[in-house]
Parts: sequence; C-alpha cells; structure tokens
Amino acid sequence: MRYNKKELRLRVDFNNMMTKSVGHDGFTEKQMLAIADKIDDAYESVQAGRGKGMMGWTELPFNQDKVVADILETARYIRKKFEYFVVLGIGGSALGPIAAFQALKHLRFNELPKRQRKGPKFYVEDNVDPERMAALLDVIEPEKTMFNVVTKSGSTSETMAQYLIIRDILEKKLGKDASSHIIATTSKDSGNLIKIAAKENYKTFYIPNGVGGRFSELCPVGLLPAAVLGIDIKGMLGGARYVIDELSVGTNPRKNAPLMAAVLHYLGMKKGKNISVMMPYADSLKFMADWYCQLWGESLGKNRTLDGMPCNKGQTPVKALGVTDHHSQVQLYAEGPFDKIITFIAVEKYRSEVTIPNGCEEYPNVNFLCGHTMNELIQAERVATEFALTKAGKPNYTIILPELNAFTLGELIMYFELQTAYTGALMGIDTFNQPGVEEGKNATYALLGRPGYEEKKKEIESAPPKISRYIV
Ligand code: PA5
Repeated sequence: MRYNKKELRLRVDFNNMMTKSVGHDGFTEKQMLAIADKIDDAYESVQAGRGKGMMGWTELPFNQDKVVADILETARYIRKKFEYFVVLGIGGSALGPIAAFQALKHLRFNELPKRQRKGPKFYVEDNVDPERMAALLDVIEPEKTMFNVVTKSGSTSETMAQYLIIRDILEKKLGKDASSHIIATTSKDSGNLIKIAAKENYKTFYIPNGVGGRFSELCPVGLLPAAVLGIDIKGMLGGARYVIDELSVGTNPRKNAPLMAAVLHYLGMKKGKNISVMMPYADSLKFMADWYCQLWGESLGKNRTLDGMPCNKGQTPVKALGVTDHHSQVQLYAEGPFDKIITFIAVEKYRSEVTIPNGCEEYPNVNFLCGHTMNELIQAERVATEFALTKAGKPNYTIILPELNAFTLGELIMYFELQTAYTGALMGIDTFNQPGVEEGKNATYALLGRPGYEEKKKEIESAPPKISRYIV
C-alpha cells in the first residue's frame, strides 16, 4: 500500500512546555542553549551507534526484505489454516504485539464474526496467572491454534512455562503434528528455545542480536503477529524509515522532534520532574502507553552512569487514557505536585464518526451536545485538558497523528525509540541493558531450582527473616 508521507507526517506541538505558555515551571531557549554541546553529543552518539551493539533496532526498517517476505508467506498460511493465533511472551516480547493489535484492528476484533475478521482470533498471553491460562484454554481449541513462542533469551520462566503447558496439550491431542502448531521467535545463537526449536522442527524466526526486547516491535517479534492480523507490515516499516530518514535529522531540536522531546524530558528531570505521563486520546492507542512505559522505564531507570559512577536516575512512566482519566487522574495532574511532564497523543481523524442525536431540546444543559459528533467531543476534551493543565502551570506537549494506520504507527514507534535513545545519551547511562530485570529473573530461577543458580538461592535464603509484628 502507498502512503502519502507529507499528509501522514507525525508532528509534535511543544508550546506548552515553554515558560511562555506554562510559566515558571516550563523551559526556555536559554536553558536549551546552555546544554547545546550535550545535545550535539547525544545526537552524534546515537547516529554513530546506529546498527552497532544494542542499536540494531535503528536498521530494522532497512534490512529485513528477506525476513519480511518469509513473515508474509507464513502469515498467509496461518490466516488460511488456523482459527486462533496466540502469542506466548512477556515484556518486550508481548507489549509491542498487544499495542499494534489494539492500534490497528477493530476494537472488538475477537468478537467479530469470522467473515469480518478475515483471520484467526488473536490473543497475547503475557502473564503466568493460572486463572488466565485456564481461561485461555476455555476459549481456544488448541488443535486449531498456532502458538508463537517469543523470547529473546530463550529461557524466561514465564514464557517457557507457558510453552511447556501448551506443548504438552498439543502433544496429547495431536501427537507428532504438535510441532506444526508452534512457531519460535528467539535468538539465533543463544538460549534454550533455539535448541528446542531445532530438535522439534519448529518454524523459527530470529530476533537480531542487537535488538533488545523493548526495541523489538519492528522485527519478527512484532511483525509476524501483525502480519497474521493482516496489518501492512511494510507500511509500519515505511513509517519508521520516514522518521529515521527525515524527521530526526540534525542536532537542532527544533527540527528533530524526538531530540526535542528528549532534551525537554532531560531538563525536566533536572528540575525534579520525575514522572512522565503518556496519555493518548484514542482507545486504539491505550496499549501504546503500556509499551511506552516499558520502553521509558526499563531503558532509563539505572543506578550507574556509563562511566560506572553510582546514580539513581530515571523518570517513572505513567499511563493514562483520554478522556477516561479526566475522571480519575487529571485532578492530580492539574493540582498536584509539579513533578510531571504530560504527553498527549492526538489523532486528528478517527476511523469512525458517531453523531450525538437530537432529542433533548427542553434541557439546554444536555441539548448543547446534540448535533455534535463524538469526534468533536473527544477533541474538545483534549484541548480543554491541555488548556487546564497549561493554566495550572503543568508542562505538557502533544504528539499529533493525522490518522492511525500502519504507517503512522511505525512513525510513532520509531519516534519513541529515538526519543528514548537520545534521552539515555543525555543522561549518560546505558539505555539498552536491564540489570534490574535480570536480577528478578535470576532470583526466580533460583527459587524454582534451576541448575547453576544455587548461589543465588543461598543469597535469597540469607535475607533477614520476616518479622511477624510487621505483618498486620
Ligand atoms: O526489554 C527487555 O529486554 C525485557 O523486558 C524482555 O523483553 C523481557 O524480560 C522478556 O525477555 P525474553 O524476550 O528474553 O523472554
């Protein structure tokens, strides 16, 4: 499909971040100028790092022709042959597929009749709550299901536990044919899943070495589920490519929106703004906020600088939904502490238009709504909240998507990934590791008796015993 880049260009309105709009808690040109060298360095280090080390994700829009062809062929087969498609994965192996599903498919997709869905029902299982697994098994028929096991490390407890449960069920029902119901997406040369996949003859897609979980939506982790859903994955990659090639070029933040966002968040952290609220005004982007929370939190929450100095840095991401959270969180954003930067996402053209009908003429305080569309209502509420927060002196900015489609979703993904990389570079931390997550993973392995984790088990057991008077 062809997309008109100019018409679909993502724009960001930073006005309400500046003191001119928001008053003393905002930011000034002078403050930005004072760190001009740092900004140059951050931009240059991200550019120089492209495609190297853990920055393989910058090149995904350019280097996947062969794998995209394989994904599209596999997806065509799955769409024809299977009634259900289930992703088994967690963290970066799940949040992207969930976000893309919600963003680009019908909001009640699984409830639609098959002729409208035109493909399998879709589930992403990103927890090990036993009730959830039991519930999944109540609604799918394993013999009509393709399972996509996604884990870069090939050993994450949650994903491997799910896989073992599913494999057992499939083998009992289908015997040798079980293998044709599992696709593995994992590292080519490390971990256990790749070995299991080779032994069991699973169709396999690879997660490139330089692509970490939270940066993996544009590799087979996200592209295969998206293609199974009939999403235009070439369009997604095209949107991402557009951001890299044209929207994030040069050290001038006024011409490079992800860099500008990074600079303002960085300056914000310096002023004690340690919370980043992500608030899309579209149900379809609700889970993009979840995806952003992982990207921002796991990438920037670090206790060492790149040169090894202790620090405790990061900005806590919070997800909110416009307008639902007007009636929940916005009171706090407006009148609570000056510790947040609020990002709105606006969609100019929704995929549906719903008119509020007439019929309440005798009640002017209700009648004012009649004849408007819900589209006008949600836009008015967004503008009103932006106004109220700005009036309250709370820095906020708006990412504007002309509409939501595969291309603009690709733009948004790459926009946030670059913003994160620039921010990490400004902060002088390793944006791409996650030692805090690994510690928890290792402790789980130890508690459940994984060989090689005996020392960790001893360390856990040597923790001071719980004191009963504090258990109330
Ligand atoms: O971003 C990350 O690296 C993590 O959140 C991982 O995606 C998550 O821990 C799952 O890891 P894996 O894909 O190895 O199962």
